[in-house]
Amino acid sequence: MRGGLSRTVAVLGAAGLLAVSACGNSDNGGGGGGASATKDVTVFTWWASGGEKAGLDGLVSVFNTECKDYKFVNSAVAGGAGANAKQVLANDLQAGKPPATFQAHAGAELRDYINAGQVDDVSQLYKDYGLDKAFPQNLIDNLTVDGKIYSIPANIHRANVVWANPAVLKKANIDGATAPANVDAWIADMDKLKAAGVKAPLAISKGFAQEMLVEAVLLAELGADSFTGLWNGKTDWAGANVTAALNKYKKLLSYTNTDREAIDWPDALGYVNKGQAGYTLMGDWVAAQQLNAKVPDSAYTYWPAPGTSDSFQFLADSFTLPTNGADPDGAKCWLKVVGSAEGQKAFNTKKGSIPARSDANPSDYPKYQQTAMADWKKDKIVPSCAHGAACSVGQNNDILSAISQFSGSQDVARLQSALGAAMKTS
Ligand code: GAL
Repeated sequence: MRGGLSRTVAVLGAAGLLAVSACGNSDNGGGGGGASATKDVTVFTWWASGGEKAGLDGLVSVFNTECKDYKFVNSAVAGGAGANAKQVLANDLQAGKPPATFQAHAGAELRDYINAGQVDDVSQLYKDYGLDKAFPQNLIDNLTVDGKIYSIPANIHRANVVWANPAVLKKANIDGATAPANVDAWIADMDKLKAAGVKAPLAISKGFAQEMLVEAVLLAELGADSFTGLWNGKTDWAGANVTAALNKYKKLLSYTNTDREAIDWPDALGYVNKGQAGYTLMGDWVAAQQLNAKVPDSAYTYWPAPGTSDSFQFLADSFTLPTNGADPDGAKCWLKVVGSAEGQKAFNTKKGSIPARSDANPSDYPKYQQTAMADWKKDKIVPSCAHGAACSVGQNNDILSAISQFSGSQDVARLQSALGAAMKTS
């Protein structure tokens, strides 16, 4: 167990956060390692268990082979979407104790760290490792500020996905193979499920999962361009179309489990798998969770959130080189693995995501990722706020508090003005 564990718990205690399991240890993940490994490389993520840990283990197994002078040290802090990790990381960076490398989302979230001077320019590594040609230009643009590149992307995830239990849907004569055409049709199916005795047709968890549902409904109701405009200032948050969408979100919330403020996304997925709910909306790390838990393909189905089938709402995990990190050479070896074809394959086949590199072979991947790779090529790409592509950490925190207040108050007007206000901050 790493020395930092007690510090981490103390920080979390001070911040008043609940349900934390910090997994600081020297877990060498996916095997390999070596007696000759000497210097620790502390890798900070929130991939602490299930399919997320399986993905991390994939990267670690390549690291153990490629970076024999170094020892992987797992500094993961549990909690979906970094709900606990981001605060721990902020405190560590503030205290001048950065890990060797940390996970950050491409886009606005990464810019937070760049603007705070907490991450180094890694443009030279792109040249050294041939990454400037390996990644699509639009992704590199998301990682670039003033001509410098600040992280190496590990993957592309899709946020706007609904995961369903076809056996539960069948009870209400709903065909699980096809997505409802729009949000209204989805609501009509929820009523059918209720009539068939399913108490909470839509399983949902706290915080970012509710934010993802808000985003999916806004995307469905506004369309890809106006949805993107919400995050870049071109669409008015006060518009009647936003009010209408938020009212539909309110309706959807009425079909969810009453313990939604107490659980995280794997629990909500568990309700679907156990047949207690028909649907959950969650990013495609669910595919990894199902694979890791050996849930058979026939037991679940998935489609883009109703009304969003032509949009791929993306987010990308990337890894950084923190300024004044303890062992930049060890960190660079990790980054080399993250960007490599082999590292991306070992990671993404287990993580539910698709490789950020353009040279992957779809047939190396499970069925879900093959469909995602095809959609990534043909769909409209829109960003996720909940996962840092479109929003800074500060904006996202304000949005999360507005959404959690709404879970109790159900006050649409208040939610709408709070969301608009959040996007006026930096
Ligand atoms: C996202 C992250 C994903 C996945 C998810 C759930 O923010 O990008 O890789 O880990 O959170 O925890």
